[in-house]
Amino acid sequence: MENYKEIDAKEIGGNLIKKIGDEWFLITSGDKSKFNTMTASWGGMGVFCGKNVAIFAIRPSRYTFEFAEKNPTLTLSFFSEDYRKALQICGSKSGRDCDKVKEAGLTAISTEAGNMTFKEASLVMECTKMYAQNLEEACFLDKEMVEKWFKNGDYHKLYICQIDKVWVRA
Ligand SMILES: Cc1cc2nc3c(=O)[nH]c(=O)nc-3n(C[C@H](O)[C@H](O)[C@H](O)COP(=O)(O)O)c2cc1C
Repeated sequence: MENYKEIDAKEIGGNLIKKIGDEWFLITSGDKSKFNTMTASWGGMGVFCGKNVAIFAIRPSRYTFEFAEKNPTLTLSFFSEDYRKALQICGSKSGRDCDKVKEAGLTAISTEAGNMTFKEASLVMECTKMYAQNLEEACFLDKEMVEKWFKNGDYHKLYICQIDKVWVRA
């Protein structure tokens, strides 16, 4: 990871609730030969099973879902406000229909382990899937959330991933 400095997950600066919910991030899965990326704004970071973890949810209708299901590892990439438009593109177009990395003006790079991220990212996490489970209507204790988000039945799959490596732009 040229031009990046590896840091410990505990050294990640800033407010992660703001970073995730307001600034968004890209979930990228696959390798140089074939990968896909999409914008996400639901998720969290914390500790689970004694590991530092990232939690996020992907709807099975996303092209990225196919990659996330197939590959054991993936990256989460965070950007400065300058890339808001790029994240809007990656969150509104599907990799099934276009080369959205190109349309978003991002430059794909590979980690040493072969996962994909982007040269423009300010913070990158490389993760290994630990736990995954489909959200289910019956498990929602707050039924208003079902009404608000899942009326079409396209329930996300929730992933809890161990954070293996964290880089910030040097
Ligand atoms: C701000 C924002 C946040 C999003 N968050 C999520 C999310 O957490 N999970 C999800 O499945 N889709 C989310 N999406 C939608 C996907 O990014 C979008 O459907 C994307 O086009 C999927 O691309 P793909 O088909 O190439 O995977 C979000 C979109 C935007 C704009």
